[in-house]
Amino acid sequence: MLEVVILAAGKGSRMKSAVPKVMHSLAGKPFLQHVVDKARAMAPKTIHLVVGHGATIVNQHFNQKDIHSVVQAQQLGTGHAVAQTLEHLADSSVVLILYGDVPLIQQATLESLTALVSADSMGLLTVTLPNPTGYGRIVRNHGAVTSIVEQKDATDAQLAIGEVNTGVMAVNAAHLKQWLPQLTSNNAQGELYLTDIIAMASEQKVAIHTAQPAHTWEVLGVNNRQQQAELERIYQGELAKQLMEQGVTLLDPARFDCRGRLTCGDDCVIDINCVIEGDVVLGNGVEIGPNCVIKNTTIGDYTIIKANCILEDSTLHANCDIGPFARLRPGTELADKAKIGNFVETKNALIGKGSKVNHLSYVGDAQLGESVNVGAGTITCNYDGANKHQTLIGDNVFVGSNTALVAPVSVASGATIAAGSIITKPVNADELVIARAKQKAITGWQRPVKKPKA
Ligand code: UD1
Ligand code: CA
Repeated sequence: MLEVVILAAGKGSRMKSAVPKVMHSLAGKPFLQHVVDKARAMAPKTIHLVVGHGATIVNQHFNQKDIHSVVQAQQLGTGHAVAQTLEHLADSSVVLILYGDVPLIQQATLESLTALVSADSMGLLTVTLPNPTGYGRIVRNHGAVTSIVEQKDATDAQLAIGEVNTGVMAVNAAHLKQWLPQLTSNNAQGELYLTDIIAMASEQKVAIHTAQPAHTWEVLGVNNRQQQAELERIYQGELAKQLMEQGVTLLDPARFDCRGRLTCGDDCVIDINCVIEGDVVLGNGVEIGPNCVIKNTTIGDYTIIKANCILEDSTLHANCDIGPFARLRPGTELADKAKIGNFVETKNALIGKGSKVNHLSYVGDAQLGESVNVGAGTITCNYDGANKHQTLIGDNVFVGSNTALVAPVSVASGATIAAGSIITKPVNADELVIARAKQKAITGWQRPVKKPKA
């Protein structure tokens, strides 16, 4: 049985933030959420979070039944942190220790590490770095790991070792229960070092098997905003690589940001500077122009989104044509071949097959049938200052430019509304309705003249 311990008590002073470090975001979710997600993929019995700084904020976010949180009131070292969980660990468990500020660790690496644990062995994740400064060094004797020595406690010879401790390890709970109570703070930092259990294991002839991550970036930690930005780019770069491998065209993978999950059909094209949030699903042959923000939206086959559109909680069916500069707000649903043009805003709106809202309109709390043409500048006046009301428009309706549809109101199929109308009453099928002041002419009109300055 597997249990996971995630260390997340540190303050992260170098972030210079009121928010605890592990709650800062990578790809739109907290570092710690990335680690918890990876831990969950290992199907552990329980995930133990060791929290300290900002514990209330962390616990609020991770108030879930597979997560057990323990507070480490004072940060006395990594060994002390893990020790806080001892009484909650089952003796027979294998314990995987992760770090809340190391968000890019991959499942395959964790699997190869936990596979190294047996009754008389443990797994240690190490990496060899060209510049190992700051890390604990892996000390070996005839190939076998015998201890880890921290930077501040190391001799010159030990400082020259390139193989370092990533901090991630997998150990029997029974061993932790035996070793952690024996730790002392007799070292340069006066801390209880988790790393000191390695020498204990070695003395007790518990084999220390090492594994390496497939990529060094998996074990990079975040201590400041520069490193946060570096990890963001690595994350986005990897995601972009995967999408391209699946057949998506990214016009510039360095200018692509996904802060959620993107699923694409065949032959989709995404231009530069798009931001994807939440769950976004693209069908086949979808094209997204530059500078679009798309959140929790499903887009059907061959639909085209032109530059500078914002789409949220919407469903677009096949062959639609959107933008440039369109804003589709929550509850927008477009049937096949619908067209939404520039400076058009929609909200809670069903737009029927082949219907067009091409210029400068607001369509909210509305249902439009098929083949409707909504003229430039048309507004559904859905809000009376207190409540929202519906506008219903049948098939083949022609709404002239600059019409105000004062909801609740309905327009039956085939009706024509003259430009500049203010519609406050139901419009019957196939009628022409003109609801505006009649044009009148005043001959000999004198324009006012400016008064001379005093
Ligand atoms: C630790 C390792 C070092 C390794 C490095 C990898 C020890 C003694 N050293 O050093 O060998 O190369 O990680 O990055 O383990 N934490 C707590 N409570 C504490 C102390 C730390 O929750 O009392 C958390 C921190 O918030 C952080 C993580 O544990 O997320 C690592 O602690 P940190 O102090 O950064 O350890 P390092 O000195 O980097
Ligand atoms: Ca660290």
